[in-house]
Amino acid sequence: MTTPTAEITLRRPDDWHLHLRDGEMLKGVIGDTSRHFARAIIMPNLVPPVVTTSDARAYRDRILAALPAGDRFEPLMTLYLTEHTSADDVEEGKKSGLITAVKLYPAGATTNSHGGVRDIEKAMPVLERMAKIGLPLCVHGEVTTPEVDIFDREAVFIDTVLDPLRRRLPELKVTMEHVTTSDGIDYISSAEKNLAGSITTHHLIINRNAILVGGIKPHYYCLPVAKRESHRLALRKAATSGDARFFLGTDSAPHVDPLKECACGCAGIYTSINTMSCLAHVFEEEDSLDRLEAFASLNGPAWYGLAPNEERMTLVRQLEPVAYPAKIETGAGPVTVFDPMFPLHWAVAG
Ligand code: DOR
Ligand code: ZN
Repeated sequence: MTTPTAEITLRRPDDWHLHLRDGEMLKGVIGDTSRHFARAIIMPNLVPPVVTTSDARAYRDRILAALPAGDRFEPLMTLYLTEHTSADDVEEGKKSGLITAVKLYPAGATTNSHGGVRDIEKAMPVLERMAKIGLPLCVHGEVTTPEVDIFDREAVFIDTVLDPLRRRLPELKVTMEHVTTSDGIDYISSAEKNLAGSITTHHLIINRNAILVGGIKPHYYCLPVAKRESHRLALRKAATSGDARFFLGTDSAPHVDPLKECACGCAGIYTSINTMSCLAHVFEEEDSLDRLEAFASLNGPAWYGLAPNEERMTLVRQLEPVAYPAKIETGAGPVTVFDPMFPLHWAVAG
């Protein structure tokens, strides 16, 4: 028996940054997204990456084939930008309606990014074409320069890569993904146009202490790495502000436990399953439940030029905590679920 104490209804949400992987992992995780989200922007950092429109079409087919029977879900495909990407192929992908955005991974910045961009000059013809045809660029905004401290990599990226790029191509629409710093929030807030930012669930909840205090906690390690508390507070303020430039991108990134619980653990936190419960908790804490719909369901589609979903989702706050599994079993192995370190009382009712 559960006892409802409050409820809210919003348009069905979308996830504007998601890793679904492939094969057995894809089959194991897709249902956690399609249960709650109508659409998601699918990250292309597979091995090998999704580089061409034809790669993206084949990957989309595999995603649709892995969907649980009866679920309606629209994968919004992205291309992985390389120094050899063809501008014509990108344009064709957009024209055919298959490609929603192109993703820039600075080479070496994160999981499966070694095929990404080392010298942005080499990607300029593609970026110029994207500016011309109105195709957004999603960026992993961190420099990879070894001298730059990992906690400063986002701020340095803004100054040395993103701002110069935007000055050079003011018509290019840029999504700064998984913003983790007040520097990122300030930069987006001060932009006049063509810049927006996605924020993850976990960066609204953890700061870097979660990773390091009381022992090293690999399941709180992701990239960009969580920063100090003042940054988390800036992210909360932006996410709950209603400002149309900020929206949800979970960056839910499943890795099997053995690849996280080891001497050199992978970056990535798995939040698809409990994101909506976590977000309702955060927005309630910030006295902003009435703005959850803007963050999760309205601002993202408006930025990407899509209509918001017509379907509704109801979240119910119950006295008893909602039971989420500590891990999910996939054909690829177990994946630990994000633990927000507080009980979740908001349940998705339908
Ligand atoms: O934590 C992360 N995991 N950050 C990324 O940028 C990539 C992702 C992954 O693919 O595992
Ligand atoms: Zn990601």
